[in-house]
Order: sequence, then structure tokens, then C-alpha cells
Amino acid sequence: MKILLLGSGGRESALARVISLSKKTEKLYISPGNPGMNLWGENIILNGFEEISQFCKKEHIDILVVGPEQPLVDGITDYFADNNPQVIVVGPDKLAAQLEGSKDFAKDFMQKYQIPTARYNTFSSQTVTEGKEFLRTLKPPYVLKADGLAAGKGVVILPTIQEAERELEDMLLNSKFGAASSKVVIEEFLSGIECSVFVLTDGKHYVLLPEAKDYKKVGEGDKGLNTGGMGSVSPVPFCDKSFMGKVEERIIKPTIEGLQKEGMKYKGFIFFGLMNVDGNPFVIEYNVRMGDPESESVFARFDSDIVEAFELLGKGELDRYDMKITSQVATTVMLCSGGYPESYEKGKLISGLADCKDAILYHAGTKQGEEGKILTSGGRVLAVTCLADSMQEALNKCYNEISKIHFDKMYFRKDIGKDL
Ligand code: AMP
Ligand code: GLY
Repeated sequence: MKILLLGSGGRESALARVISLSKKTEKLYISPGNPGMNLWGENIILNGFEEISQFCKKEHIDILVVGPEQPLVDGITDYFADNNPQVIVVGPDKLAAQLEGSKDFAKDFMQKYQIPTARYNTFSSQTVTEGKEFLRTLKPPYVLKADGLAAGKGVVILPTIQEAERELEDMLLNSKFGAASSKVVIEEFLSGIECSVFVLTDGKHYVLLPEAKDYKKVGEGDKGLNTGGMGSVSPVPFCDKSFMGKVEERIIKPTIEGLQKEGMKYKGFIFFGLMNVDGNPFVIEYNVRMGDPESESVFARFDSDIVEAFELLGKGELDRYDMKITSQVATTVMLCSGGYPESYEKGKLISGLADCKDAILYHAGTKQGEEGKILTSGGRVLAVTCLADSMQEALNKCYNEISKIHFDKMYFRKDIGKDL
């Protein structure tokens, strides 16, 4: 099989690694990829759907795996259905991608199919007054969400009604998040502990991937600003049989039924961002892709052939897939540029990578310097993932490996997994 993977982060590094491990993979191209992914495939630069489509024709690509959400929300799957119908695209169509692209759309879908989620209402610049009235029916803290994609910054949680009212005005009247906040979802605050659950679906059948927990805040003890994710662990101890049974019955199955009833074409990963409220799962958000840095831990535990799964997904026969997952624990610690998620410097020389023999090193924000040197080029620079028989052992391995890596102003959380 010839495969093209789109993306350049830690998530795509994790996908590239498992794709390269498949016996079925004849050739893996990655666009744009990063220097770490050279190990698993060939990086190329393709811009826009047309160029991607032409490349797939020329190179006889069999499978297109879409890592990030933006091309899905922009309709790459529909474009391929029209122009490259022979290619299996791993990713939902444009309509289904709205489950991530519009919070209002996702909430509406959950309400229609009775999928547990926080009580909510959606407001526009014409209904600011009604929005303020709705806020008064809720208890603090107040959760406001820009409807559209806002680079992970569109959710604001505020302790007082005055701040919530001001934020609502900022989003709706002052376009705080541009077009993304032309509509705002206000919802009830759910108190609990979060986890990430993933399935691969062909639109009818699904396989449940290992769950993971992500550490979103930049500071230790979950303090400070939200980031793309500072680390992850898989499995998650509280995601036991009873909890996961509820997740499947109340959330996953009704979601897949809903996709079918709405006529959405969904062949790809669904990421359920869940809150465990006293043992009961609620959906905080849908994403139409894998998580980052969850993928780094989830795919480290993957012990079967992912390309075989993609082939079966193409045929709509995912029920025939035999997925194997190692019982070992995977932990991931993200190495970041000092200052992230606010401003930070780039172009720092990274040393020590060759000494890390006990970890999987997933590049996330790196670039190639002169003479084979690797330089930082993003906020989240490297994901360090280790497997072991216990979470503590896996974490010890991660932190031991990290002690060999260095770049100026390197920052990472030292408390990944401690809350579990
Ligand atoms: P989202 O982008 O929807 O995942 O929201 C970002 C983060 O905000 C989530 O990971 C949660 O930590 C938090 N959050 C979102 N909605 C709620 C809610 N209704 N109650 C509590 N926390 C929430
Ligand atoms: N780790 C959260 C996300 O990928 O959105």
C-alpha cells in the first residue's frame, strides 16, 4: 500500500510510526512532516487540495490519512470523493467534520440523539440580551465557547457573572475570535475528571482504541494557561469496565447511529473529549481526528496492523478487524519552548537525542538545521514516550530519558500522571 499522511506534529509522528510498522506499507509520504518523521517516511511539501490530489494520482496512492482537523473541516474528503474516488480517505466528510468545526452543530447533534452533555444555549450578536439572561440561570463558573475553530483558545471559563457578560459581549460584539465567535455556546459547568476516548469507524462499525488522559495546563498541579497538551498517559485507571460500558452505550453507539441518520460519511477517527461526573460520562467536545499528545501514548500501545484497519475501513468491514493492544502503560511528556503557550523563541539547537535509546521520540515542533542539526521551531517541540509495566516505571523512564536532552529554555511538566 502507498500512503500519504497529512500533518507535521506529534500526533502525525505517532501515526507515521505505526503506519511504517505495518507489513502492508510499501511507501509512506508525509506532507509536510518534520525531521523526526524521516525515520518512518518521506517528507514532501504539497499545498492545497488540487496539488495533493494530483500527487495521489501520479504516485498511485492507496490511502490518504488526514492528521489535523482543518483540511477535514475544509472538505478534503469530499474533494477526494469527487476527484480521487479510488483513494481510501481516513477522515470524515465536510458535514461530519462540523462536529468539531462548530460547537453549536455538535451540541445540537448531541441533544437530538440524547447523548449526555452539559445543558446549553447558543447566542449571536442579535441575542446578547438573551445570552445574559441565560447566564443568570446557571451557577458559576460560567463556560463560554466560540462556535468555530479558534486554535484551541475559544473556550473561556469565568468565575463571576460580570466577567462572563463582558466576555459574551467581547466575543459577539467585538469579534474577539473573529468569525469563530459570531456564535457563542454558553453551557453549564461540569465538575469532574477528564479523559479522551477514541474510536476508528467506517461509519457503521467501530473499534475502540485505548483511552488516554491529557494534561492541558502549562503549569504543575494543572495551573496556568491552557496549551495543546503537556503530556498524556494510557490506560487511564478510572476508565474501568463499568465506566467504559457507559461510554459505549450512552455515547459511542448513539453517535454512530446519529452519523448514519444524518447521512454523514464518516470513515476515520472520532475523539470523544469526556468528563467523568461521579462515574457518569458526559461529552465535552467531539474532535474529528486523533488527540495530541494522546496519540503518542495511544499508538505506543498499538500491537496490530493499522494499515489493515484502514483497508477494512475503506471496504466498510471494520467489524472484521482484530485489534491488539499491549497491556503495558504508555506515558508521554512534552518538551516545550520556554514561554509557550505565550511568546517563545525558536531556532534553539537540540542536543542529546541520539542518547535516548529507551524512549520513542516524536518530533512535534522541530526543523532541520545545517549539518544534520535539529533545531526547535514550535512551542511543543518533542514528545518523549515510554512503555513499561506500570505507570510509575514508564514515567521514571521518560524523565530519565529527558535528562539526556537539552535545548535553551527547555520546559516540561514534572508531574504528569501524579493525579492518577
Ligand atoms: P473544549 O475545547 O470544548 O475541549 O474545551 C476546553 C476545555 O475547557 C476542556 O478540556 C475542559 O477542561 C473545559 N471545559 C469545556 N467545557 C466545559 C464544561 N461544560 N464544564 C467544565 N469544563 C469545561
Ligand atoms: N489533546 C487535545 C487535543 O488534541 O485536542
